[in-house]
Amino acid sequence: MIPFLDLKAQYASIKQEVDAAVHGVLDRCQFVLGEEVAAFESEFATFVEASHGIGVNSGTSALHLALLAAGIGPGDEVITVPFTFVATVAAIHYAGAKTVFVDIRPDTFTMDPDAIDAAVTPRTKAIVPVHLYGQPADMEAIGRIARKHGLVLIEDAAQAHGAEVHGRRVGAQGDIGCFSFYPGKNLGAIGEGGMVVTNDAQLARSVRMLRDWGGEKKYEHVLKGYNYRLETVQAAVLRVKLRHLEGWTEARRWAARRYDDLLANTGIRTPREAEGTRHVYHIYAIRTGSREQLQAGLGAAGVQTGIHYPTPVHLLPAYADLGYTRGQFPHSERAAAEVLSLPMYPELTADMQKEVAAALIELSRK
Ligand SMILES: Cc1ncc(COP(=O)(O)O)c(C=O)c1O
Repeated sequence: MIPFLDLKAQYASIKQEVDAAVHGVLDRCQFVLGEEVAAFESEFATFVEASHGIGVNSGTSALHLALLAAGIGPGDEVITVPFTFVATVAAIHYAGAKTVFVDIRPDTFTMDPDAIDAAVTPRTKAIVPVHLYGQPADMEAIGRIARKHGLVLIEDAAQAHGAEVHGRRVGAQGDIGCFSFYPGKNLGAIGEGGMVVTNDAQLARSVRMLRDWGGEKKYEHVLKGYNYRLETVQAAVLRVKLRHLEGWTEARRWAARRYDDLLANTGIRTPREAEGTRHVYHIYAIRTGSREQLQAGLGAAGVQTGIHYPTPVHLLPAYADLGYTRGQFPHSERAAAEVLSLPMYPELTADMQKEVAAALIELSRK
């Protein structure tokens, strides 16, 4: 069996460090925020080259608070892509704003900058590009458009820890960046977690207040806040894992190169790393016209795969009220019908990848 993801292998490789971090939290009995969270915020902000990091309880909360801190609310429109995890759109809805979709580029699966101008209205307040699969969106082009229209730029970097555009880390390229530490992410907690990063002190202060009931002092609630605090144990474990992240990212990139080589000239379309960017391969998704058949065949051969994501958000029943119909975002719709995510994690061995590729090639000949 070749699993899609192997968190047990990761834990086995750093068990002593993780166990010591968890026991340290138990010994100190500080369970919410505190010094460990502050240290992780500072270390993660440094990692993404941002001035401020604010730990929260999920990537979804990070997006929600980023939008609120930017002053976005009812009556406002926020531009994003339909080919993303539903959380991107849910956060816009939580903030009370309306989601306006633009399509993706078919080669990178990220926001098509050329589609943005036509979607901007007098109500547009922000653009939320998604660095899907760990591939940075075209931040230079999107940044230019955001500046031209005076829009806030919020990065959904939930899948892109350590990804880069021209040597600069994603997350701090726009006004605010949002990360998820859901266990399966490239940097994953032992539960839920997220982080907002920014270079803007005022935005950082607002997010910091909003995550902890809207105040800086106990019982002095200046804003209508939330209980979105990061748990101390998550920060303690994430500090351990952050020290390994660069090595893990390089291992993912090696694994991606190996898949690229193994699947070259087989008719299977492998993902492309956009020029000038560093893809961190949270997901390695191939494209195929016969996905269901391939997925079933791989499953029978003991290879677990995933689909990220089978339905673009504009076609999900939950967001039917946005009023979109099939055919409006053809690249997103086509990607959703064709993508198949292969096993991808730092511990994946060359032999396992050979097995995956052999099974894939065999099945696609049928
Ligand atoms: C693109 C994207 N945005 C947002 C999220 C939300 O993060 P979380 O699950 O930590 O709330 C996720 C992850 O699940 C994601 O993949």
